[in-house]
Amino acid sequence: MNYENILVQQDNGIGTITINRPKKLNALNKATIQELHNAFKTLNDDSNTKVIIVTGSGEKAFVAGADISEFANFSIEQGAELARNGQKILFDFVANLNTPVIAAVNGFALGGGLELAMAAHFRIASDNAKMGLPEVSLGVIPGYGGTQRLPQLIGKGKAMELVMTAGMIGAEEALACGLINHVTSQEELMPLAQKIAGKIMRNSSVAIAHAIKAINDNYTDGTNGFETEITQFGICFGTEDFKEGTTAFLEKRKAAFPGK
Ligand code: COA
Repeated sequence: MNYENILVQQDNGIGTITINRPKKLNALNKATIQELHNAFKTLNDDSNTKVIIVTGSGEKAFVAGADISEFANFSIEQGAELARNGQKILFDFVANLNTPVIAAVNGFALGGGLELAMAAHFRIASDNAKMGLPEVSLGVIPGYGGTQRLPQLIGKGKAMELVMTAGMIGAEEALACGLINHVTSQEELMPLAQKIAGKIMRNSSVAIAHAIKAINDNYTDGTNGFETEITQFGICFGTEDFKEGTTAFLEKRKAAFPGK
């Protein structure tokens, strides 16, 4: 598939999506959001892709937010539709993918950029990264899940302060409050993401997909995560991966998971 605003690669089981509008600090316009949806869907549907890494091009930004120039003149209805559609096709879509998604935050992750990173299953960052939800400085609030996912990750009080002050935090502070899992240099960011992806790929992709669903259900309205865990746990017993994983353990060899 041809894309204008993103680059997509697939090597050795790792799909890499790079948001590629460096002159606009990789801001998410409508076309980029649609392309991201298509790329995430294509990689997720390809059973050869075991992990997806999302990052930004250039040395300055992961994503500096939703493209402000596109919505500056929107009406109330258009504003609500922007948030609804974006959540549906990108942010909730990514959060609920079967394939693990790692955000490699290589610079500014602001507004929609941090919201995209938070929709990923977990985040790592380079030491120059700056993260925040500055929407109230524009007279609006985060609309791509930020008011929900930031408190889930860092706690309500810290999230309130970060949103109200429209502040930015650096990588070390983000690490300390649980927003990201690791900090490294810019050069080491993608190698680290790939190293973690390699560790993930040794395990059963089928079991990982069930684990993602069970963990996500803790944060989904109207679902009981413990019940989901019981169901998903049971389903695993009918998979080829479970047979292979347990047999390999008992035979004292490394499992070769068929991913089924
Ligand atoms: N939407 C649209 N364009 C954006 C953008 C966004 N969210 N963030 C940056 N850009 C554009 C700038 O308009 C500028 O374009 P231009 O060269 O055509 O004028 C280009 O990207 C470079 O940005 P610039 O502001 O010159 O870089 P900087 O290093 O001085 O500042 C930031 C970097 C991230 C602090 C600043 O760009 C910024 O505050 N961006 C908006 C962040 C934001 O509020 N995001 C939430 C949106 S809901």
